[in-house]
Amino acid sequence: MDVLVFGSAIVDFVAYASRLPKPGETLHGHEFKTGFGGKGANQCVAAARLGAKTAMIAKLGDDTWGSKYLEHLRSEHVNVDYVQKCKGETTGIAQISVSDSGENHIIIVVGANNLLSAEDVNKSKLLFNSAKVLVCQLETPLSATLEALRAFKGISILNTAPALENTPVDLIKSATILCLNETEAALTTGCDKISSLTQAKVAMERLLEMGAKNVIITLGPAGAVYARREDPEIFIHVPAPRVSNVVDTTGAGDAFIGALAYYMSHFPDFPWHQLIGAANQVAAYSVGHQGTQASFPKLEQVTKQTEFEWNEI
Ligand code: RIB
Repeated sequence: MDVLVFGSAIVDFVAYASRLPKPGETLHGHEFKTGFGGKGANQCVAAARLGAKTAMIAKLGDDTWGSKYLEHLRSEHVNVDYVQKCKGETTGIAQISVSDSGENHIIIVVGANNLLSAEDVNKSKLLFNSAKVLVCQLETPLSATLEALRAFKGISILNTAPALENTPVDLIKSATILCLNETEAALTTGCDKISSLTQAKVAMERLLEMGAKNVIITLGPAGAVYARREDPEIFIHVPAPRVSNVVDTTGAGDAFIGALAYYMSHFPDFPWHQLIGAANQVAAYSVGHQGTQASFPKLEQVTKQTEFEWNEI
């Protein structure tokens, strides 16, 4: 198996409006959609669409959404042997607003996702022993995520989203790769904001000091930067392709991580700037299309580029 995701599955309720509302304001929207989301499942489906053999370990409610979600994951060819519908629980939901310029606000109520536990790691040893890449996020209990990262012997990617002000150092140290966006990196490191490559470099230095082995910070339209503890003096920027019509940025970070997991499982010897360049392309495709998982491409929908521009910061 290529990619194992231990994490969240959430149903998205998405309202589209000309702009995002201010606090206390009511706005007329022009469209409403429901979709399958949750950072874990999004990342899993992104990898599966590209052709990865995937499995997911997750918790759903014993409601209609739980049944629909299970059916949906099967239709995306995800192994759901360890996706469980939990009695008396509701499936996690996300309330999402998307503006015409593609920005979003998200509130999650994770419901059954809270029941994912360290015991689930022990129960699914077969998957942990056979996967090449493990992907985790922070929408499920931290103790379970930590256990999953500790138990896994291959390449693990921890997406520290949603970000915490005090991310446990054990989590930061346990993953092979820490992957987060610029807002999450600012919160995690205590940096004021990250709006330049120089600020991103400072945040990466801090994350390496906090014990991260390898760090990737995604920067939206500016692409991504990375640093590795084995080359502590080297900080690389990989620009992203320009998107002329940004439609919906929801899930673009998940598209990046799912793609990274796919490319890492298929091309483990490729240099990182190429893997990240390829993942940038998948994220760029996603922001040009509406919806979260609905916007993730198949392999044939992204160009077969293998050389990507990169620069040292
Ligand atoms: O990253 C986007 C995702 O965040 C949405 O699908 C929503 O469910 C939340 O988990």
